[in-house]
Amino acid sequence: MPINRRDFLLRGGLATAALAVSPPAFEAEPLPQLPLCGGAALRKVAFRNQVLPSGPPLNPLTLARFVDLLPIPPVLRSAGTRPSPEDSGLALPYYRVEMRECLAQLHRDLKPTRQWGYAGSVPGPTIETRSGQGLLVEWVNALPRKHLLPVDFNVHGAEANKPEVRTIAHVHGAKVPPQGDGYPERWWTSGKSATFHYPNQQDAATLWYHDHAMGITRLNMFAGLFGFFIVRDEAEDALDLPRGECDIPLVIYDRRLDRDGQLYYLTSGDARAPWVPEFYSNAIVCNGKLFPYLEVEPRRYRLRLLNAANGRSFHLTLSNGQDFQQIGSDGGLLPQPVTLKDVTLFPAERADLVIDFSAHAGEQIVLQQESQEVMQFRVRKGGGKDRAALPQKLRPVPRIAEAEAVKTRLLTLGERDDYAGNSTMVLLNGTHWDRPVTETPTLDTVEIWSLLNLTGDAHPIHLHLVRFQILDRRPFDVFAYNASKTLRYTGPAVPPPPQEAGWKDTVRTDPGMVTRIIVRFEGYPGRYVWHCHLLEHEDNEMMRPYDILTKE
Ligand code: C2O
Ligand code: CU
Repeated sequence: MPINRRDFLLRGGLATAALAVSPPAFEAEPLPQLPLCGGAALRKVAFRNQVLPSGPPLNPLTLARFVDLLPIPPVLRSAGTRPSPEDSGLALPYYRVEMRECLAQLHRDLKPTRQWGYAGSVPGPTIETRSGQGLLVEWVNALPRKHLLPVDFNVHGAEANKPEVRTIAHVHGAKVPPQGDGYPERWWTSGKSATFHYPNQQDAATLWYHDHAMGITRLNMFAGLFGFFIVRDEAEDALDLPRGECDIPLVIYDRRLDRDGQLYYLTSGDARAPWVPEFYSNAIVCNGKLFPYLEVEPRRYRLRLLNAANGRSFHLTLSNGQDFQQIGSDGGLLPQPVTLKDVTLFPAERADLVIDFSAHAGEQIVLQQESQEVMQFRVRKGGGKDRAALPQKLRPVPRIAEAEAVKTRLLTLGERDDYAGNSTMVLLNGTHWDRPVTETPTLDTVEIWSLLNLTGDAHPIHLHLVRFQILDRRPFDVFAYNASKTLRYTGPAVPPPPQEAGWKDTVRTDPGMVTRIIVRFEGYPGRYVWHCHLLEHEDNEMMRPYDILTKE
């Protein structure tokens, strides 16, 4: 990946600063003089003027490893039933989830960290259901009125005349009617709630819920507002995959903490415009703990991995170099297990893995992000055995034929920079959030979306409501495109590897590549969104509404 000056400062400079135990050695350069003529000019804060808030950050590498047990988020119990909004004769399980401020220890040797959690825990409780079993969730905002983290009032939708703390829950990957999908502008404030209906007319898959409030999603999620939403079904049951205690959801995200263990979100250094274009840090949290461990038996386990980081991608391996099988991706099971030694997850992506510990009784195996420890598996000397082999056929994923597409859309991913090359916002198709809708697929038709990445970064692009397939990625001449809007390919199209060839709802779009996806717009007509899942981008214009139209 080409590295420009901004990337270098971001990845190199800040990583160094995060590791340092004393204030960084480099000095902030003076702010360039910019005209002050309203929000747009204030936005143009040079990224290199990033300063560190109150005191040096915690160096996670100074913490003892593997002293906390891996927490498994509890499965949420329903609070009775309520009539279905679609059929009042039908009673649906009703869940109530309060978003609350909470304190939790991220590590044995740290003070409790103030966070915001669904049901007062981070991650929130897991919502479990079965395909076709609809349910209702009342999402209650019981958060304080002042945000835990610095809000940027210049960001669209987060203006100073709006309540500072706003929330709206979205189930990522769910096939939901538009009124329950979590449209970013339909937020509610502290003391209010909304009840959403999830029909769950979809295949077994590892979904997740998280906040989606306009202009502050990055802060609400950094504060802790996310959890798992798991759909199961009969086709999956019939496969005899590891289940029960051997089926473990694992959410991984990075945080920056101060010496007191408190959340420490980066700002631009300008209190009037604190937005930063990307957030990365080096404390990797797994189900709410730093460096947790889990005792396992010498048998197969299913790990449902989710990347819930704001911006970091994870490249995960096992310390003993053993391989594992990927059996599912964002939208459900793969056609067959794919044997891998490493797995890469961009923000919002999921990978369903099966790891076989049977040949490793008595060993300790570490899940690693590059060279950094994430968590440890302690394999017991004895215990349960697997009854059967891992099935070699999982669930067919019929390829959607390109010939079925009624439309191909060329959509660009681009960045607005200031004169110094610092990102001030990121745009889809050069269009701001509040411009009229331009993507209007018809219900039950197939379209190809060609995503032209004109930036120097990879962006994970997510479409609400639907699942899709990746067709290919192909390098193109970005300069020629910028100069004359001509699309000139500079190399062959590369089809996705098998682990990316199943159902996806989030796709990594590499810089300088056209990433093509094919989508059948099934579900419900109405207004949804598509966006980059780097949360700093999503909040600052890299999100667009789209409409699904009904057939004439
Ligand atoms: Cu993970 Cu628009 O969402
Ligand atoms: Cu992005």
